[in-house]
Amino acid sequence: MILLIGPGAVGTVLATHLAAAKRLPLKLYVRERSLAAMQAVSELRVDRPGKTPPLQAARPGLTTQLDLHGVRYLFLCVKYPDLDALLLQLPPVPADCTLVSTLNGIAPLRLIRERLPRARIVPMTVMFNGQLLSPLHARITTKAQVLIGSDDDTLLGAFEGSGLQTQRADGDSAVWGKLLINLANAVCAITHTTFRDLLSNDDLRAIYVRVLDEAVGLLDVAGVPYQLHVPLPYPWYRQFILHGGPLPWWVAKIKNGLRDGAYPSMVADVEQGRRTEVDQLNGEVLRLAQAQNMAAPVNAGIVEQVHRMERGAQPPSFLTPKELRLRLGG
Ligand SMILES: NC(=O)c1ccc[n+]([C@@H]2O[C@H](COP(=O)([O-])OP(=O)(O)OC[C@H]3O[C@@H](n4cnc5c(N)ncnc54)[C@H](OP(=O)(O)O)[C@@H]3O)[C@@H](O)[C@H]2O)c1
Repeated sequence: MILLIGPGAVGTVLATHLAAAKRLPLKLYVRERSLAAMQAVSELRVDRPGKTPPLQAARPGLTTQLDLHGVRYLFLCVKYPDLDALLLQLPPVPADCTLVSTLNGIAPLRLIRERLPRARIVPMTVMFNGQLLSPLHARITTKAQVLIGSDDDTLLGAFEGSGLQTQRADGDSAVWGKLLINLANAVCAITHTTFRDLLSNDDLRAIYVRVLDEAVGLLDVAGVPYQLHVPLPYPWYRQFILHGGPLPWWVAKIKNGLRDGAYPSMVADVEQGRRTEVDQLNGEVLRLAQAQNMAAPVNAGIVEQVHRMERGAQPPSFLTPKELRLRLGG
C-alpha cells in the first residue's frame, strides 16, 4: 500500500495519478482539521494544460492515523518547514517500507537521513508545477513528469497508464540537477525579472552562467553527480544559454510549458517580504564550498543580497541586471 502524507498541490497531483493508475492501493493521511473538507469530496481531480481533459479518479480512503503497518511506500508531500515536525511524529518505519520524498532540494533529504538513518529513502524530483485549487483538486501548468532516484520497478511502474511520466534517475543526481536550474530563482528575485528575461537579457544570462559555473565546479570537485534536465553536457549547456540567442527561452517555453510573464515564486516572496528558500538553493552551494574548503563568491553574493532584501525595507529596492552583474564582479 502507498500512504501519501500531505495531499496539497503536489500530493493531490500524485494521488490522482496513482489512483487512476490503480497499480497499488492508496491511502491519504490528512490532518484532523482538513478531514471534513476532504471527506466532502468524492473525486480527486487534476486540471491539465492546453486541451488535455482533466484527470479524475475516485477518492481513496482518508486517515488521520499515522499507522505504517502494511505500508510499502510512504510518500512525503509536505513543505520543508513542516518536515521536521512530521518526522518526529512518525512511528518506527518498518524495514520493508520505502520513504519517497517529493520535497525540493537537498536539505530535506539530509534531514530525513539524519532523523531516520536506517530507513530506505528515495528522492522523487517533481518536474511539474502544481497548484491546489480546492481540497483534492489541483492544476498543473506543465507536463506531468517526475524523476525517481531508484531502480525499484514497482515504484517506477506505480503511475503506469495514468499520464504521469516517470523516469529513473541515479540516486540524488536529479535533485542536484533541479537545484542547479533553481539557482536562477534568486537572480530573478533580486532583479524582479521573469524566466523569459533571465534567458533573453545578456546581463542576466551572464550572471546565471556564473552562478552555475561555480556550482557545477564545486559538484565536480566534491565528486557529487548531477543530472541536468536538458540532454546536454554542462559545457554545451552553458554555451547554449550564453550564445543561443532566443533559443534558450523557446526551449524552456516549449519543454516546460512556461508562459511569457512567468516568474519563479521567489520573486513574489521577496516582493511581499516573505522568507525565501535561498538558503536551500544557493545556500547549498555555499555548504558544498565550505565542505571543500573553497570559496563560492558568486553564490555568496546572491545569498547575501536576498537576505538583505528579506530584512530590508518594504517595498524592496530591486537591482537592475547590470547593477547585479557589477556587484558580483562583472
Ligand atoms: N507545488 C509545486 O509545483 C512543487 C514542485 C516541485 C516540488 N514541490 C515540493 O513539494 C512539496 C509540497 O509542495 P506543495 O506545493 O504541494 O505544498 P502544499 O500545497 O502546501 O501542500 C503541502 C500539504 O502538506 C500538508 N501537511 C503539512 N504538514 C502535515 C502533517 N504533519 N501531516 C499531514 N499533512 C501535512 C499541508 O496541510 P495543511 O494544508 O493542513 O497545512 C498541505 O496539504 C514541497 O516541499 C515542494 O518543495 C512542489
